[in-house]
Amino acid sequence: MSILFEPTILKGMSLANRFVRSATWEGMATSDGICTGRLTETMARLAEGGVGLIITGHAYVSREGQASPWQAGIHDDTTIPGLTQMADAVHQQGGRIAVQLAHAGGRAATGLSGLNANGTVSGSQRWYSDLQGDEPGRHRQYCSCFWGCCR
Ligand SMILES: Cc1cc2nc3c(=O)[nH]c(=O)nc-3n(C[C@H](O)[C@H](O)[C@H](O)COP(=O)(O)O)c2cc1C
Repeated sequence: MSILFEPTILKGMSLANRFVRSATWEGMATSDGICTGRLTETMARLAEGGVGLIITGHAYVSREGQASPWQAGIHDDTTIPGLTQMADAVHQQGGRIAVQLAHAGGRAATGLSGLNANGTVSGSQRWYSDLQGDEPGRHRQYCSCFWGCCR
């Protein structure tokens, strides 16, 4: 039998096999980034089908870093119950799940969040070329958002 079907351990996490669902934006969260029953069920079905490790679609670490409509967020504590339910549903099927943390930076969907890349109210769409002036400050800000989600 192929090694793909054999259990393995990834950074201390036991996996039933070596099949990994690569991160894929599902567009199944609410407009506030909360996991829905539909998203949870989709993940549970992937695990039921035998995917050892699921990587979620990119989840925004701060509201202004949202990239896509109905994208899941992990930006504040209101997202925790939905994420917990989703993880529990996958675990019940013998699978494991990891969240892909993301910030869309200058590509953020300001029209969806109503915020620009600095987290202040957006006047217009801003792109990379507009953002070059304050790169170190912005990188520090992004890093603190990522660390905040790892608490
Ligand atoms: C609809 C869609 C959504 C995706 N969302 C993400 C994402 O959230 N994060 C990511 O890193 N890659 C994302 N990807 C890229 C996929 O994870 C994958 O790398 C890509 O489809 C290439 O895989 P393939 O060579 O097996 O087709 C997405 C791809 C598609 C088609």
